[in-house]
Amino acid sequence: MALFGFGKPAAPPARQVPRHIAVTMDGNGRWAKKRGLPRSAGHAVGAETFRTIATYCKDIGVRYFTVYAFSTENWKRPQEEVDALMDLFRKYLREAAETMAARGVAVRILGDLTPLPEDIKTLIRETAEIADTLGEDAATASLCINYGGRDEIKNAVRRIAGQEIGRAHV
Ligand code: FPP
Repeated sequence: MALFGFGKPAAPPARQVPRHIAVTMDGNGRWAKKRGLPRSAGHAVGAETFRTIATYCKDIGVRYFTVYAFSTENWKRPQEEVDALMDLFRKYLREAAETMAARGVAVRILGDLTPLPEDIKTLIRETAEIADTLGEDAATASLCINYGGRDEIKNAVRRIAGQEIGRAHV
């Protein structure tokens, strides 16, 4: 994801622009290592790249840009790295709240947000409130946090099982 220096390619013709682009953030650590920098520097550039691409998507008419940024597995990383990622997330949310109206990009945070620190949950709520005020023309940049394939399957099975139990009682 830390792809800085890809420049600004010419916009493709409108009819060739997808409605939704989704990517997984990867390679931040390797990007930093190659340059003799700490992993946190790679994450900072990754977050900045997300913002750059989200703005570019809006400019060329892509309605939705989604990044899978922090999975359920990522909590197992060294505490120092998780803390640095949470700090970056805080910084990003504060900046998003200040700039998203002007940029015309509604920032949405998706995933199971339960285990996040309380102050981050508050920032997410504030970001969502601002995003809700943006008009029809705004593009959407979604950041998936604490997502996971296993988790989604588990939740889906629980929900289906719950519906079956509900039906059995009718
Ligand atoms: C993938 O690179 C990156 C992550 C798992 C974490 C990304 C999360 C953030 C930058 C924080 C919040 C996001 C935004 C956009 C504000 P990696 O560490 O797996 O890299 P590697 O494969 O080279 O080790």
